[in-house]
Amino acid sequence: MNIAIFASGNGSNFQVLAEKIQSGKIPARLKFVFSDQRNASVLKRAEQLGVPSFSFELKEFSSKEIYESKLMELLKQHEVGLIVLAGYMKIVGKTLLQAYEGSIINIHPAFLPEFPGAHGIEDAWNSQVKESGVSVHYVDAGVDTGKIIQQIRVTRFNSDTFKNFERRIHKAEHQLYPEVLEKLVREELKA
Ligand code: GAR
Repeated sequence: MNIAIFASGNGSNFQVLAEKIQSGKIPARLKFVFSDQRNASVLKRAEQLGVPSFSFELKEFSSKEIYESKLMELLKQHEVGLIVLAGYMKIVGKTLLQAYEGSIINIHPAFLPEFPGAHGIEDAWNSQVKESGVSVHYVDAGVDTGKIIQQIRVTRFNSDTFKNFERRIHKAEHQLYPEVLEKLVREELKA
């Protein structure tokens, strides 16, 4: 199965997934990574790993439809069957959803439906919850509202600083996302 990863920033989830694909643990073909931020670190990580990358920004287009149409061209050219969002900080619009709904997955750094949105870790921390977590879900037209595929809980300890807590959330992401992707790809191969 051909996949594309979309990311906006650091790219640690991208890196973990790319390494598992390159080692053969996840039997998919990673066709490219796309970043909607031309300066994102994820692009450097892609270069280091030899993964093709593309980048352009929404503000370079007159509408989200046109921006997403350009993405659609890339996806079609590379015959991508599954889009994997890994820190892609844009809401997926109708152009992509019409073509790919049910074939776009996302990772969110909280235990959905708790703390949706762009600040899942901070929001959980500020709410003083005893536990938060990490979720992988299908993407629909809402913000982090699509069907949940798999989640894990992450405890917040009394002794935690925000940094410790955040580190454990990311660690949980790096464990969960490859597991879920491997499962989805292997199921697709069987089908
Ligand atoms: C991750 O924590 C991911 O869950 C989050 O952005 C971070 C990206 O980190 N995504 C969202 O909050 C989406 N709502 P990374 O660039 O190091 O993979």
